[in-house]
Amino acid sequence: MIALEGLSFSYPDGTKAIDHISLTITEGSSVGIVGANGAGKSTLVNHLNGYYLPREGSISIGGILVCKKHLDRIHKMVGLLFQNPDDQLFTARLYDDVAFGPENLGINKADIAILVEEVLRELNLWELREKPPAHLSQGQKRFASFATVLVMKPEVIIMDEPTADLDPKNRRKLINLVNGLGITKITVSHDLDFIWDTCQRVCIMNRGRIVADGPAKDILGNRDLLEANSLELPLRLQG
Ligand SMILES: Nc1ncnc2c1ncn2[C@@H]1O[C@H](COP(=O)(O)OP(=O)(O)OP(=O)(O)O)[C@@H](O)[C@H]1O
Ligand SMILES: [Mg+2]
Repeated sequence: MIALEGLSFSYPDGTKAIDHISLTITEGSSVGIVGANGAGKSTLVNHLNGYYLPREGSISIGGILVCKKHLDRIHKMVGLLFQNPDDQLFTARLYDDVAFGPENLGINKADIAILVEEVLRELNLWELREKPPAHLSQGQKRFASFATVLVMKPEVIIMDEPTADLDPKNRRKLINLVNGLGITKITVSHDLDFIWDTCQRVCIMNRGRIVADGPAKDILGNRDLLEANSLELPLRLQG
């Protein structure tokens, strides 16, 4: 479903954030990406829906090359939840933010109303639909970002720190929601228990490279490997 071939990326100030990454992800799988602050996780996943366009190396999703020409198709296929929800929400009313994507696809108004109501109700946001997103709490913004992505019914969902700001009940709700999504999923998180609960496969990133890649339970159960990469065992394994 997703194929990265020799992807490298440097920011304009010269910081090399991605260093020659090759990776394939099969359709329907759930992959966690973990690593220390600054390891390059967000930079990597922000490439996967064309937010950053590959300059060195290539990415293809469902056989379509990620490039300027294919951006509409890529955006329709891949939903990306930014690490910071403020990057996702930009209109004056929550309802409009959720309707924005379907409107861009040219879906008719009546169908958009059904789609938006369905997703807002599912995420317990219906009562907040008239609020400016800027006035939502952090956790509400996180779910609002989810709504803007899920309403598009993507084939691939990329989540960057999805549990940041969530209370325990909503974190549990998110685990159930993610596990109920039968699509290809990529999750970046420092919440290794969340990764344990939702991913079959885990990649560790360190200084722009993937330094380990394997079954979630092997990677997340390997204390030495985690500690060598500034990580710790998931809380449930700490005894
Ligand atoms: N706009 C930018 N300009 C220059 N350097 C940047 C920019 N954004 C990120 N970087 C640098 O790129 C590297 C990777 O950053 P990135 O945000 O991808 O890390 P991350 O693994 O997502 O970290 P975190 O866990 O803190 O979210 C870091 O060294 C960071 O300082
Ligand atoms: Mg990040």
